[in-house]
Amino acid sequence: MKVGIIGAGTMGSGIAQVAASADCQVSLFDTKPEALAKSQQKLAKIMNRLIEKGRLTPIAANTIQANIKYVDTLEAMADSELIIEAIVEDPTIKKAVFSTLESLVSRECIIASNTSSLSIASLAATCQHPERFIGIHFFNPAPLMKLVEIIPAVQTSNTVKNKARSIIIGWGKLTVLAKDTPGFIVNRVARPFYGEALQIYDEGIADIATIDWAMKTIGEFRMGPFELMDFIGNDINYTVTETVFKAFYYDPRYRPSFTQKRMAEAGYLGKKSGRGYYDYREDAERPKPTEDIVIGQAIVDRIVAMLINEAADALHYSVASKVDIDTAMTKGVNYPKGLLEWADEWGICTCVERLDALFEEYHETRYRCSPLLRKMLKAGTRFYPEKAAVKNK
Ligand code: NAI
Repeated sequence: MKVGIIGAGTMGSGIAQVAASADCQVSLFDTKPEALAKSQQKLAKIMNRLIEKGRLTPIAANTIQANIKYVDTLEAMADSELIIEAIVEDPTIKKAVFSTLESLVSRECIIASNTSSLSIASLAATCQHPERFIGIHFFNPAPLMKLVEIIPAVQTSNTVKNKARSIIIGWGKLTVLAKDTPGFIVNRVARPFYGEALQIYDEGIADIATIDWAMKTIGEFRMGPFELMDFIGNDINYTVTETVFKAFYYDPRYRPSFTQKRMAEAGYLGKKSGRGYYDYREDAERPKPTEDIVIGQAIVDRIVAMLINEAADALHYSVASKVDIDTAMTKGVNYPKGLLEWADEWGICTCVERLDALFEEYHETRYRCSPLLRKMLKAGTRFYPEKAAVKNK
């Protein structure tokens, strides 16, 4: 099938590789010729590495590369069946692209955006045929991350939703369906991983090395929150938090931290700038954690309780199904297990008690327990009753 990708930056290049690897004929467009050249060189490097590792034959690598045409006009993708936009996160620029695009493509062409933070409904509204528009949200790096969030807007037709989903599944991805709400699934549910860790640090309960140690060793997360923020970039992570906070009409649950704002302002962006919460310069000493199990366990319990609460609330507001919420967090950000599955393991009663204890201590709505957890506690239910039944056999 013919696919158009707009924007040859980090995401556009990755998505083009995914589509080309699934035998699609891809037209990749960017307004900057140097972005196209860079994208082509980067793909060649990736292909060579995969050949060296024996993961790809030279013939297959050639085919993938030949499947991508680097084009300098939007007209060149006029015969596409699906077009995915992955340009700068600026609604005015995106909207201008969509209105030009619609005058070029066929009536059947699906138009999608890879936006992380804009509402799909607002982008769809710029189209004359908004029912053809949908959100298709990949994760970075797109060729390696299995998860893709599919976000229909209120205007999107069922046919487009189903077709878009089956195309992406055909590209070897694992799709989850998300409601068009701020942060979709992953960028919403993951907020407390950073926010609560920062809160614990700001209150002086533990230092960054100890919080990271606890989350990795006791919580079994692949990376600690501060390591991960440094990896993502404190500028980017801060912007996502601030965007979600504003989009939720300043719900205190998503309130950004001054600490992170100052890191971004100082240019301590993390790995990419050589300095963030940690110092990545040569010979810099890595701070040592205080390996105290009691403190460590309290840190994990508090952050995981907040993550569970966020996941439960996302389910309460029908952002996605329980399975999709758990899949999104395990495949999109590599959590050691699904948060709702984790809630079942703790027991709903423990989740409610931990959240109520935090609320009791702070008297802040940030710590209010999701009505869904409370309802489940009253009814004595769990998220996956079928799993409990299997275990009890
Ligand atoms: P990027 O800055 O790496 O690439 C953007 C590209 O778009 C640049 O090459 C730029 O020259 C090009 N561009 C700008 N205006 C254009 C126009 N009018 N027509 C054609 N090309 C144009 O950005 P990145 O990180 O790839 O992000 C792209 C989109 O993907 C954004 O909407 C972002 O929110 C979203 N996204 C980003 C993720 C990430 O981790 N970087 C993850 C998931 C989604």
